[in-house]
Amino acid sequence: MAAPQTILTTVTAVDTLSDEIKAFTLAPVDGELPGFTSGSHVIVQMPDGETTHANAYSLVNLPGQNIFCIAVKREPQSRGGSRYMHEQVQVGSTLAVSPPANLFALATCDGPHILIAGGIGITPFMSHIAALDQAGAAFELHYSYRDASVAAYVDVLRQYQGSGRVVLYDNSQGQKLDLPALMGRLDAHSHVYACGPQVLMDAVVAEAGKVLPAEHVHLEQFGKQAVKDAHTFTVTLARSGKEVEVGPDESILHAIERKAKVKVECLCREGYCGTCETVLLGGQALHLDQYLDDTEKAAQNKIMICVSRAHQGPLVLDL
Ligand code: FES
Repeated sequence: MAAPQTILTTVTAVDTLSDEIKAFTLAPVDGELPGFTSGSHVIVQMPDGETTHANAYSLVNLPGQNIFCIAVKREPQSRGGSRYMHEQVQVGSTLAVSPPANLFALATCDGPHILIAGGIGITPFMSHIAALDQAGAAFELHYSYRDASVAAYVDVLRQYQGSGRVVLYDNSQGQKLDLPALMGRLDAHSHVYACGPQVLMDAVVAEAGKVLPAEHVHLEQFGKQAVKDAHTFTVTLARSGKEVEVGPDESILHAIERKAKVKVECLCREGYCGTCETVLLGGQALHLDQYLDDTEKAAQNKIMICVSRAHQGPLVLDL
């Protein structure tokens, strides 16, 4: 798959939302930005010396405006992208971004839609609640954060609190989201959406799974999923016949680049842009990406080699 075309934008505003989070407003250098739906993200490219970071960020503004608004948390453990955004990007900077894509769309139903955010995982919900509010759909947002000084959009969301549709949980004040109680009162038509730390996502999947079918549970997961007990496996590159061993701590992509010296086009390296999609000719993949849908994953004929691994190997790739 070719890398998605990029759109050149100019940064027109940089706002500090908390001690750790900055918001950036991007306007097109020329013409109109493509439209998007709530829950969409863009991938921002950040040339930084010999590296280009590529991170996905949810669009927090309402669709229909000719701007992209994103919020970026400075991650101490990041590969450099969030540091770049916080330190290098200012009003007037030019940023290349991908067209918007939506892997976290609202289900087509009247709801109720139950939105669960942890920390910076609030970002995709900012456009969702605006869209749901505009549509008059039933929703609840439950937003849990460590402390108001490090959380984004708390003041904006307090305006909704009186409606009972937004519940804020400031953990530093001892306020905790009670997931079993929340799930216990859902009706069968509810759709649950979650974005935040892995531990929250796992808990939502476990609790929602007791009362709702899997297709009513929607997750937004930027960053790599942790794999328990990852094992070593072999990948065969069908075009050259090369065999590459992939260790438990590396990706197929990384192993191919390092050991076989084969260059594969890639952008995000985290399983959501689709650029590294590769035809799977043999073996069974353990799909860990956000890009392929469930039907595509079940077909076992393509794989995102930046994050996915072997379920039953060895894998044979059309490379
Ligand atoms: S490089 Fe983006 S999905 Fe693999």
